[in-house]
Amino acid sequence: MEKKITALPGDGIGPEVVASAVEVLQAIAQKYNHTFHIAVGAIGGAAIDQFNDPLPKETITLCEESDAILLGAVGGPKWDNNPSELRPEKGLLRIRKHFDLFSNLRPVQAIPSMLASSPLKEENVKDVDLLIVRELTGGLYFGDRQRSETDAFDTLSYTRNEIERIVDNAFQMARLRRKKLTSVDKANVLDTSRLWRQIVEEKKVHYPDVEVEHSLVDSTAMKLITNPSAYDVIVTENMFGDILSDEASVITGSLGVLPSASMRGDNFGLYEPVHGSAPEIAGLGIANPAATILSAAMLLRYTFELGEEATAIEEAVARTFAAGHFTGDMAPKGTQALSTNDWTEKVIAEINPAYVSDAMTSLF
Ligand code: IPM
Ligand code: MN
Repeated sequence: MEKKITALPGDGIGPEVVASAVEVLQAIAQKYNHTFHIAVGAIGGAAIDQFNDPLPKETITLCEESDAILLGAVGGPKWDNNPSELRPEKGLLRIRKHFDLFSNLRPVQAIPSMLASSPLKEENVKDVDLLIVRELTGGLYFGDRQRSETDAFDTLSYTRNEIERIVDNAFQMARLRRKKLTSVDKANVLDTSRLWRQIVEEKKVHYPDVEVEHSLVDSTAMKLITNPSAYDVIVTENMFGDILSDEASVITGSLGVLPSASMRGDNFGLYEPVHGSAPEIAGLGIANPAATILSAAMLLRYTFELGEEATAIEEAVARTFAAGHFTGDMAPKGTQALSTNDWTEKVIAEINPAYVSDAMTSLF
């Protein structure tokens, strides 16, 4: 298979973790006889510095000419006081909107070798295997907003069509899994949530094999910690999904291992770690690349339909953890933490010990 991927390293630790994931993709390509052409584009603060635009035209064109996008992270203190159109985050929001990537899939699974060091009780987290389906192109993130010296507002609005497509998507995901769907809202207060709940009720008739429950976002936040293994698929609006997915990372022991896929109706997608740009550790070579590597696995599975190759990456990551290799964010006290590159090499050795790098890393 011959495919083109646009890599958007972005800011902070983005370039480091994307370089790792690209190496892993090339190791897969070499083993399974594929060719992945990697184009590199600017986004976020890096793009503001270079083009005075967090999502330059050049980047959009590159992505439009590609089969999939692999993104690192955006943001950092350097740009925090910029006007909203010139904030790094705006580049990410615009690329999601431009490509209509309305469905953000965020899987969360317990990592056996991390259970003992989880802040949660081992018996509560050991069976966790859930998928957050976050609406990504509507709600508070994209509603009308205004700010003056004395007041400010943001608007939470959803159309029927926006809710229907994400709810359908979540039902379909539930069908491929344990057939349980939890729709999360705040229907005791918000009208958008009441419409959301009504649409889930209408849709469930078409998926009689899927068990459905409605859950308020505040109590879901609590149950995600007290009984996370009760969940299979969680579907929710943009902001609730943002918050719940960071919360769910506690279950795995680190935000550094959570991947995500942002999809539109077809196979095209943008893949990125759930974590941010972590500017405080940028450039030190110690970032955890697992989330981006696992995002690359999702890319192979969902966009290229290369299930076997995706599983090869996921299993290599699992074996690397099981062998006791961790970056600093995960290494148990008193054990040696590996650098980003050394950890990546362990994963690559699990996938394809014969892999010879063509020094992709130097691209960034
Ligand atoms: C995420 C991030 C983004 C979001 C930020 C960087 C705009 O937190 O992908 O979860 O809020 O969606
Ligand atoms: Mn977030």
